[in-house]
Amino acid sequence: MKRDDYLPEEAEIIEVIQETGSNLNIKTFHLKLIGDDPVFDFKPGQFLMLTVHGVGEAPFGLASSPSNRDRIVISVKETGKVTAALHELTVGDKVGLRGPYGNSFPVEEHKSQEIIFISGGIGLAPLRSAIDYVLDPDNRGDYGRVQMLQAFRSPEDMLYDYDQPRWEDAENIDIKYTIDKPCEDWEHCVGFPHKLIEDEIDCIIEGAKYYVCGPPIMIKSVINELLEIGIKPKDIITTLEMRMSCGLGKCGKCNIGHRYVCKDGPVFSYQELLDMPEEF
Ligand SMILES: Cc1cc2nc3c(=O)[nH]c(=O)nc-3n(C[C@H](O)[C@H](O)[C@H](O)COP(=O)(O)OP(=O)(O)OC[C@H]3O[C@@H](n4cnc5c(N)ncnc54)[C@H](O)[C@@H]3O)c2cc1C
Ligand code: FES
Repeated sequence: MKRDDYLPEEAEIIEVIQETGSNLNIKTFHLKLIGDDPVFDFKPGQFLMLTVHGVGEAPFGLASSPSNRDRIVISVKETGKVTAALHELTVGDKVGLRGPYGNSFPVEEHKSQEIIFISGGIGLAPLRSAIDYVLDPDNRGDYGRVQMLQAFRSPEDMLYDYDQPRWEDAENIDIKYTIDKPCEDWEHCVGFPHKLIEDEIDCIIEGAKYYVCGPPIMIKSVINELLEIGIKPKDIITTLEMRMSCGLGKCGKCNIGHRYVCKDGPVFSYQELLDMPEEF
């Protein structure tokens, strides 16, 4: 059934996970559509528009693998009106959903390549969708080695502690974790991710793709470092977050030059960003 692009459908919250124990309040919501067609098809990197009834609507990246079609997963950081109201909701409460919108991570184009995921904080949420897709036993053989560098402010801010053992046990994978400042009992890296790239990642110059998601400052410093070591702009993939309203390329709220982040993005290669006006 073709979904209505404009009309939110009702979904029920079926699970809520408190992700972070620090003042960065992040929760993961598992949702299920309750209309005639409960299957929500999407691609890694796409986003949805979620309505908290009586409060408002906001865009969130899909954090689940498209191979798992029985639930929709988003991870949400409390920042303002809609996100605070969503954080008040619990299992059994209803929200509105429309989408999926936007383009996707080019995981199909990158078959047979090594993929290196570099995340900062909640930037791991959209990457989770691509990570789970690539590591899915049905797809794993299509990709080369996977490396990850996951950065968090502190150990309490680590996301998806329930996924990490599964990811660590996957075939042909190497995962590094880093926090901003040293801390007792922390056995992994310390420091900002861009400072660790050269030592902690086996940086392949040809035939590897770098997926980078996180706060804008982290994205910029990581991309600068990747360019410095010779990675080509076309091999660096990132996502942009802009204020959005329609999500459909109609309202003009999210444009950069002639491109709409909601429709032409939110996933762009760095080469595409270089071809856009400075605003991003
Ligand atoms: C494609 C896309 C995917 C996203 N995915 C996620 C996700 O997976 N998880 C998540 O937690 N958030 C995600 N966001 C950001 C999320 O949409 C905003 O945090 C949310 O809209 C804030 O709504 P609010 O009503 O709670 O905040 P408001 O009350 O509207 O604003 C609170 C503060 O957040 C800032 N803000 C609001 N919207 C944005 C935005 N789009 N980008 C940057 N700053 C903003 C405001 O300037 C203000 O400082 C995504 C945004 C986009 C465009
Ligand atoms: S949000 Fe309306 S054009 Fe992008």
